[in-house]
Amino acid sequence: MNFTDIRNQFPLLKQLENGHPLVYLDNGATSQKPQVVIDRITQYYVAENANVHRGVYGLSERATEAYEGSREKIRQFLNAASTKEVIFVRGTTEAINLVAQTWGRQNLQAGDEVLITEMEHHSNIVPWQMLRDALGVVLKVLPINDLGEISLKDFEQYLTAKTKLVSVVHMSNALGTINPVKAMTEMAHNVGAVVLVDGAQAVPHMTVDVQDIGCDFYAFSGHKVYGPTGIGVLYGKEALLEAMPPYQGGGDMIYSVTFEETQYNVLPYKFEAGTPNMAGVMGLGAAIDFVNKIGLANITAYEQTLLQEATKKLSDIPGLKVIGQAADKGAVISFVIEGAHPHDMATLMDQEGVAVRASHHCAMPVMQRFQVPATIRASFGVYNHSADIDRLIAAIYESLDMLR
Ligand code: ALA
Repeated sequence: MNFTDIRNQFPLLKQLENGHPLVYLDNGATSQKPQVVIDRITQYYVAENANVHRGVYGLSERATEAYEGSREKIRQFLNAASTKEVIFVRGTTEAINLVAQTWGRQNLQAGDEVLITEMEHHSNIVPWQMLRDALGVVLKVLPINDLGEISLKDFEQYLTAKTKLVSVVHMSNALGTINPVKAMTEMAHNVGAVVLVDGAQAVPHMTVDVQDIGCDFYAFSGHKVYGPTGIGVLYGKEALLEAMPPYQGGGDMIYSVTFEETQYNVLPYKFEAGTPNMAGVMGLGAAIDFVNKIGLANITAYEQTLLQEATKKLSDIPGLKVIGQAADKGAVISFVIEGAHPHDMATLMDQEGVAVRASHHCAMPVMQRFQVPATIRASFGVYNHSADIDRLIAAIYESLDMLR
């Protein structure tokens, strides 16, 4: 696979930032969009726009076909057993909230334990705190070590007969750590717990097979995998989804309505109330095609070379400390530099055309764990090259010169 040409497929990457060719290293926050995705969304509005599942006229039928075609692509992409298990949502955050507010409210009671890890994104903390406050469930947090890893031995000890749900991130946005979600799922199932995996960061970087992992729920967002914003997926095992109450009420999620009672629609529509994000679904389908064409195994291998090169070059910078040094890691590097605040650094690096995120990365407990106010994070995507790493390093030195 020739990765040098891939960058040319992303129009935004051709623009200058502060007079420099843009080096975009904030893929953990959102990815740029290839022309094929932009074209697919435009084509939908130019030639296909009609509401899905509602019309018997040709335009609506074609829109429905394309919409359901994307669902089938996503089923294959995740290796879900059925399209009934693929629910379109706004993104990972909505997917987790959906599970908390439907499965959680139906199945959890005071004293039941929800187990998460210390490296979770706020979207996999706050929904469970809301349930804790509403239902009295106990929120337990599996600690991480100094490298930013969990230990399966600790995990085993944190699992109890009261653990009803394990909700864990597949790949950490703040540390890059890849968690052993397959082993964790098996261990959690042994105590009868249900497992939700937050795949927001994992899906753009590695093959995900939900049947192989064995998890009960898996969530991801379209915009991090070269697709549009406002669209994401909740995968859930059919039997669980079937037994869960709907999340929101409205059009399309019903089979029949009278003022006395409502019969709900079948899966997956039961969880898709209202006119869905049709253009988003088409765009996400195109993004999946784009990724499949390159091949996720190729993407993983390529990004690992970028990760190794960047880690080595960054580690040579005096006073720089990488936060998150897990043995199994995706192409995300968080770091701090002695005497230089991350926010100042990122602002100055932007002047050199290098876009990195400086923040708590919506994972404040990770910052507390490593006792840093924030980190600078370089997160890579398919269009990044070795030359981007050199620009990153040069921008760090330039910025340090200005600060010191
Ligand atoms: N969760 C996104 C990030 O890591 C926004 O930057």
